[in-house]
Amino acid sequence: MIVRHKGNQYGMTAELPHSSDPGSLLAWQLAMGADEAIGDEPQDRFTAPAPARATAATGQSSPYQSPPPETRGPRPIAAKPVQSIAGGNADAATSAAAGANSLEELKAAMEAFDGGLLKRSAKNLVFSDGVAGAPVMIVGEAPGADEDRVGKPFVGVSGQLLDRMLAAAGMSREENVYISNILPWRPLGNRAPDDAVIAMCLPFVRRHIELASPKLLLMFGGVSAKALLATTEGITRLRGRWKTLPVGGRDIPALPIFHPAYLLRQPHLKGLAWRDLLAAKHRLAELEA
Ligand code: URA
Repeated sequence: MIVRHKGNQYGMTAELPHSSDPGSLLAWQLAMGADEAIGDEPQDRFTAPAPARATAATGQSSPYQSPPPETRGPRPIAAKPVQSIAGGNADAATSAAAGANSLEELKAAMEAFDGGLLKRSAKNLVFSDGVAGAPVMIVGEAPGADEDRVGKPFVGVSGQLLDRMLAAAGMSREENVYISNILPWRPLGNRAPDDAVIAMCLPFVRRHIELASPKLLLMFGGVSAKALLATTEGITRLRGRWKTLPVGGRDIPALPIFHPAYLLRQPHLKGLAWRDLLAAKHRLAELEA
């Protein structure tokens, strides 16, 4: 049975999980907009109040009597272990990803995977868009609110800029580009993904690249480039420098590029992204010659 909540101050509703799993309940609270704890001690409000005592004057029991001092105030209850934020770990993801032998199977494996709070707080799995098997594969960072709602990557304002950038270089997701992200689920509140979450998602991304088998890979933004190249270098230094990504026995040429969301904030850098896209176009022509 699903219990519906009236919604948070933004009028949004979220399904109240009927399980007593603390991770699910916490995810629900966060989805409803709770962002702080209001007491230091947990209170068990389901416990029956202390029995009423007889009053001195009447000998009648009164429901309004104060409880004895030792039962006043919140009763501490033993903390139960809370499920980790990441949920499944990288090893579980590696074996789930390895068992998938097609893009459809990989999607099904991710739908069945316990992705912990990351997955439970998202509305949809954002697997991919574009042409499966296309020569160019883009890996972005993570779905935002629009992508989470629609279940497809890059459908919001960054996606619109991405489409214009691709069109200017003679590419499109309808024709010759396949698109995915490092994270297939939207992080709550668009938080920057932490290392544990990236480590959990990376086996799926690597298997995704292997199964999609592109001729070249474009890594949009620092999160994507750093995760796939296992480097701590920032995107400003990485962009425009070709790398090689060994995936499934193949060495795939891979180019880091500024993320469209970053270009929306720093429009003066669009020229560099344009130069990188042209380099990708030329590299592709060489590979296809
Ligand atoms: N930004 C990304 O990196 N990916 C999306 O899907 C949307 C915005």
